[in-house]
Amino acid sequence: MSRTYYIAGNWKMHKTRAEAAELAKALVSQLKDGKHRYLVAPSFTLIETVAPIVKGSNIRLGAQNMACEEQGAHTGEVSVLQLKDLGVQTVILGHSERRHNYREDDALINKKLKLALKHGLEVILCIGELLEEREAGKAEQVCETQVVKGLEGVPAAELANIVIAYEPVWAIGTGKTATPEDADAIHAFVRKLIGKLYGTDAAEKIIIQYGGSVKPDNAAQLMAKENIDGALVGGAALKPDTFVPIALFG
Ligand code: 13P
Repeated sequence: MSRTYYIAGNWKMHKTRAEAAELAKALVSQLKDGKHRYLVAPSFTLIETVAPIVKGSNIRLGAQNMACEEQGAHTGEVSVLQLKDLGVQTVILGHSERRHNYREDDALINKKLKLALKHGLEVILCIGELLEEREAGKAEQVCETQVVKGLEGVPAAELANIVIAYEPVWAIGTGKTATPEDADAIHAFVRKLIGKLYGTDAAEKIIIQYGGSVKPDNAAQLMAKENIDGALVGGAALKPDTFVPIALFG
């Protein structure tokens, strides 16, 4: 495969500054010879602590969300300008926890995504179906809508700064992983969709990560699949013992 594997740790709402510093230091040292692309996405309050630790390493600095406006009267929100000021390079948008627990819709996610691109951030756009949607045979349809609406108005030239993360909601934090075959089928579908929207070259290049209970014992089988180009890891990203074997697979 010509695409470079991209393995990202979404730390969600975990860790104090001291704990985050310890984890980041361990990852910098243990992944220094890793041959894939890496990212950590700590909570907003931890970014300033983690930034100098990962600076100059092969680990990118990410955020888990951002506001849809540049600045202004938006109590409780964090702006793209503030993230850039801290050295953030990538932002995760449309995570299922944002979509389903905090009611973020495709239009809002699209607005955030375009703002992030305008400021030169890489975006990891998360998509994925609920269990009832999968059981109703609607997984592809849900993912198609989330991709099409999420990328609305994004020109082909910007696609190099987009990563898609397929995270079936029923597999997140549940210990239930999609089988490599089921995950690959959706990844292939999404890649084909990108081909329709942006052409075959863009489809061939786009990185599509899988997320949902990725662990050291299933990561290699998932990433062996043709269309699975990396992982967005939650629970297993919180300890070097579980993240490093995933990150160094292959
Ligand atoms: P888990 O790996 O804990 O299932 O979380 C996946 C996820 O939501 C990453 O964004």
